[in-house]
Amino acid sequence: MNDSRTIVVVGSLNADLTVRTPRLPQGGETVPGSPLSVQPGGKSSNQAVAAALLGASVHLVGAVGSDANGRMLVDAVKRTGVDVTHVMTPPEAITGTAVIIVDDHAENVIVISAGANGELRPDHVPSELVREAGVVCLALEVPLPTVTFSAVTAAASGAEVILNLSPYQPVPRELLEATSLVILNEHELAQLTGGSADDDDWERARAVLADMSVTRAVVTLGAAGCVVIEEDEITRLPAPKITAVDTTGSGDAFTGALAAGLASGMDLVASARFGGEAGAYAATGQGAQTSYATSDELCAWTSTHPG
Ligand code: RIB
Repeated sequence: MNDSRTIVVVGSLNADLTVRTPRLPQGGETVPGSPLSVQPGGKSSNQAVAAALLGASVHLVGAVGSDANGRMLVDAVKRTGVDVTHVMTPPEAITGTAVIIVDDHAENVIVISAGANGELRPDHVPSELVREAGVVCLALEVPLPTVTFSAVTAAASGAEVILNLSPYQPVPRELLEATSLVILNEHELAQLTGGSADDDDWERARAVLADMSVTRAVVTLGAAGCVVIEEDEITRLPAPKITAVDTTGSGDAFTGALAAGLASGMDLVASARFGGEAGAYAATGQGAQTSYATSDELCAWTSTHPG
């Protein structure tokens, strides 16, 4: 029996090693930066925290090393109310790391080193927990067989399976067929469908996605909001107007909030609007999880930042 209100997130935890610079360096160039900050991150861990802070009941399934970063990540996630019982520590593994540079225009570049995330195997995924979830959130920073196993297991019991196609890589059709909602940005959409990132032809995108058995998708467009595709319906939603400070993890805040919306019974368009608000809020602060809103904070903020 599914508990529609429970969210299970299967995926990555990373220590985010971040430096700010006035502008991003070009290839071969050295530029001065701010003091290094080490903060909790990882797309899946970020999504879990975003959903939990907004009141959802969330379990995180993942892997960290038995090292200081691993302990820092698990403690940070746990403090937000996420259940971390299924965050394992594979022997010898080092905690996943993301090296991040952010410039004065809030643009970033990120390189990830998978570490323990790369050790998360299908048999580490607690099948019963995934089967009983209402919503299962997946992204692509852990091995594809683990993502596919989680999606197929969850779909078999009727759970909402959300796949964030990030960082982009080609995925098996079996995974797309088990997914009930794909979340991707315009660049990932272009890579998946063979279009271009500035292609505004949503009817074409809808048709190409449908051929891949993706009939529900949300395409995030940064400051331009997002587009919700649901069967034949295409809905464009604006984003709140903000001055961005750091967009690291704002897409994950979007996905986590959207999942929380669905788990609380909102429809997809309302959940995507909620996701847009949480993502915009996150872009006004530094870092990923460190910039996420609680329900009360988001409620107060949106009243002064309409979309
Ligand atoms: O989406 C942002 C996240 O991507 C960062 O927290 C970093 O860890 C990478 O996974």
